[in-house]
Order: sequence, then C-alpha cells, then structure tokens
Amino acid sequence: MPTYPGHIDSKLPHVGTTIFTVMSRLALEHDAINLSQGFPDFDCAQALRDLFTKAINSGLNQYPPMAGVPVLRERIGEKMQSLYGIAYDPEHEITVVPGATYGIFTAVATFIRPGDEVILFEPAYDSYEPAVSTAGGKPVYVPLELPDYHVDWRKVQAAITPRTRMIIVNSPHNPTGTVFSAEDMRMLEGLLRATDIVVVSDEVYEHIVFDGVSHQSVARFPGLAERSLFVSSFGKTYSVTGWKMGYVCGPRELMAEFRKVHQFNAFVACAPVQYAFAEYMRDPSPYLELASFYQAKRDLFRAGIAASRLRLMPSRGTFFQCVGYEAVSDERDTDLAVRLTKEYRVASIPVSVFYANPRYEKVLRFCFAKSDETLERGAEILCRL
Ligand SMILES: Cc1ncc(COP(=O)(O)O)c(C=O)c1O
Repeated sequence: MPTYPGHIDSKLPHVGTTIFTVMSRLALEHDAINLSQGFPDFDCAQALRDLFTKAINSGLNQYPPMAGVPVLRERIGEKMQSLYGIAYDPEHEITVVPGATYGIFTAVATFIRPGDEVILFEPAYDSYEPAVSTAGGKPVYVPLELPDYHVDWRKVQAAITPRTRMIIVNSPHNPTGTVFSAEDMRMLEGLLRATDIVVVSDEVYEHIVFDGVSHQSVARFPGLAERSLFVSSFGKTYSVTGWKMGYVCGPRELMAEFRKVHQFNAFVACAPVQYAFAEYMRDPSPYLELASFYQAKRDLFRAGIAASRLRLMPSRGTFFQCVGYEAVSDERDTDLAVRLTKEYRVASIPVSVFYANPRYEKVLRFCFAKSDETLERGAEILCRL
C-alpha cells in the first residue's frame, strides 16, 4: 500500500466521517431501528424503475448535453411555472446536476473567492460549510432561534457586511423541520435589495410541507428569483436518493457562470435517468401527493411518542422530527444518540452536529421516511425512555 511521504495541509482539517455514516453503521452493528440518516426505507415507484431500465435498454447511455437532456429541462421549466409562476428558460436557466449537494457545491465554487463571506443558518445541513471552506470563503453563522428555530432577521441584517457574497437558505429545513413563511421571504428580499449578494436556495424538501401550508420558494419572489440559484433534488422527491440527481434554476447571468464550473467537474448527469424523469414528470401527482404521504408518517410517529417523556418540537416540513429530551437525560446529545442505539436499539441524529461550535441543547432528530411498522416499533421503544 503506498504512503504519501509529504506534508498535507488539509483544507478541511476538522472534517471526519459524517455523523450519518457513523450512526447508520452503529445501527447496523447493533441491529437497531435506523431513524437516523435521511433516506426512505421503502422503494421508489415501479413505473419509475421501469422507465429507467427502458431508457438504458433503448441505448440512451452516452453523454447527454452538458446542461441536461432538453426534454427534461423543458419539463422542469413547466413545473417551475405551474408551481411558482416563474418562467425559467430551459436553454439558459435550468441545469440538471448529479444531486443537490453537487449543485450547492458548484454554486459556491462558482461565486466564492478567498475571503468572501457566506451567511449560513445554524443548525445547518452539513455540506454547506465544507463547500464554503474549500473555496476559501468564510462562513458567517446566524443561529435559528429556539424554541421553534425561527429566524431573527435583525441578526441576518447585522451579519451582512461589504464582504458578504452569498447566503445559503434551506426551507423546509434539515434538521429542524422549520419552514420559512412568506413574511420570512419578504424580509430576506428586503435585506438583499441593493446588494450583490447571491442566494443559494436549497429546496430539496419543496414538496414536503405540512398542514396545508404552501411552500415559499425563492422562485415566487421576484426580488429573490433575480439573485437566486434554486436547487432541488429528484432523490427526495421520488424516493431515489441513491440515484443522486437534482437540478438548479437561476437567472441566465448566474447560470452561465455556474455552467462554466459544472462543465469541468461532473460535466453531465447520468443520461438514462434523465430520460426516465422526463417521462415520469408528465404526471404531477407523485410530487403533489408527497406532503400528505409524509404528513401521515409524521402524525403516526408523533402520536406514537406523544406519551413518552420526549418533548415534541414542531415539524412543519421535511421528513424529520426533532425532540427535546431534557426530561430523560442530562447527557450530551452525541452520547445519548450512541447509547440509544446500543442499549435501546433505535438510532437518531444528535442536532449539535449541525453546528460549527456545537450547542448542546438536548435535541435529537428522527427521520420518519420509514415504513409505518418501523415507525411504530421505534416509537414504542422511545416510550420506554
Ligand atoms: C437540506 C439538504 N440538502 C441537500 C441534500 C442532498 O440532496 P442530494 O442527495 O440530491 O444531493 C439533503 C439530503 O439529505 C438535504 O437534507
């Protein structure tokens, strides 16, 4: 086995194996119910699998156009128009990418230079900070405020400096299940007016908003759409996280730069999957029905642990439920999550890992994108704590 003889000055010295890998591995070792990592434990639609294999067997297996196959970009454009009333030009303003994470990383690599500041909300999805740091940018954190993880827009205003180049927003929000209101979006729009700040809007859970509330995309707000790269994920929408497919929409000026970087990185996303999605997207019902599908799971899980000593926090979107455990233990969330997996055989994610400087607020995150039986068994165990 070769060994590198030189010195490595890591760009990401603080990054190790992600907590998601650690907890999933621990869950496997201890045969625990895995409510940690955010992916469905059920399969995607048979019709979608059939379309994928049909595309492969039709010989659609060579490089597609760099921005994505035209028919899929057309479909995405129609979808954005019907959902958010905005016309993105498939030719210049929509790019299909190998996963939302890749789209976010590419957006950051495109616009962030050493020393540029990027505003992030904490707790934050774990890929944002490494993307910013790899580009030499400086993450500037604004905390989401307890008890319900809302934004204090005065703190966002205070965080904006002449060096601020980007803000990354994520609604519905992982890990907290917070959803931005129209008022939140108007506040953001107002704060960014007359700046050159670019918004990267991670909307991978755009279809998973509960209780009849509608999703407030940046695409709905002209003052945001003009400066935003909207990012979504087919993986979350169609329960195919392993296919790693997503798309980015934004104004032509931003997208032209984005594509320059994409062109020399992945260059393209997998071709046959794109044809499959283009066909499957003709029917909007799978994504229109997603919120009620997950709301039933959320309600089942919440009802299951209602009698436990865990404190249910709001889950207004995504497929995550956060709980406060102050009545159960004084341990750090990282310790409790490990102990619950080993002793009680149910795996969760400690929310402190979503902070740059961990805050131990005694909150665990559970993923309810699982079969009803798994959720019931998990809830039963949690009632014993
Ligand atoms: C907030 C958020 N953004 C992005 C992603 C990743 O999406 P993809 O698998 O399409 O890269 C996830 C997955 O958990 C997520 O929770």
